[in-house]
Amino acid sequence: MSEKNKEILVATTNPGKIAELRALLGAGVRWLGLADVEQTDEIEEDGSTFAENARKKALGYAKAAGILTIADDSGLVVDALDGAPGVKSARFSGDKLEGDKRTLIDHRNIAKVLELLQGVPDEQRTARFVCRLCLASPKRVLIETEGTLEGRITDQEIGKNGFGYDPIFFVPHLGKTVAQLTSEQKNAISHRGNAIRRFIPLLDELLRNG
Ligand code: IMP
Repeated sequence: MSEKNKEILVATTNPGKIAELRALLGAGVRWLGLADVEQTDEIEEDGSTFAENARKKALGYAKAAGILTIADDSGLVVDALDGAPGVKSARFSGDKLEGDKRTLIDHRNIAKVLELLQGVPDEQRTARFVCRLCLASPKRVLIETEGTLEGRITDQEIGKNGFGYDPIFFVPHLGKTVAQLTSEQKNAISHRGNAIRRFIPLLDELLRNG
């Protein structure tokens, strides 16, 4: 594989996601963010599955930037809500907001889930976080992995860490919500951590054989 191909674009403007991938995938790859490449028109996440969205973003940005690109899509799937919020997790209660307003939308999204689950007994409040990762060249999809985290939705917010739906996502084997975990504890069990851990050996192999 040529030097140019060892640059991989992470199709996100979120510096946290780039740092997370850099830390976990490191060796021999120069990780770029959308801010580092010229073509950064946003690609809409309008697919009906996490897989579709991750593929669409990875292929779209790979074509636009002309280099290998990794994209992710993630969200919360609640069984008693027929899989909602699902691919609409970020904008379940309204438009997706960036920056400071993000916490506001997180609280509104949480309030909507709790309201819809009112009266649903504990054993029926099963849910999972899902993360889908996709690596594509400008021509085709090269690697896809998925990670999940199983849990239950609480009836109130507990804990201050993390983001999104973490304060209402209870992990039974730890006896805590994700918002009560440190970032290290979360990474060790999270959907994103699991998807990345599956991704690493496949990327290593691709870079070795590419
Ligand atoms: P994405 O940035 O389009 O993948 O949107 C994912 C959305 O799913 C986020 O805005 C959150 O609402 C939710 N989500 C994904 N991962 C997590 C997580 O680790 N904790 C809490 N919420 C999450």
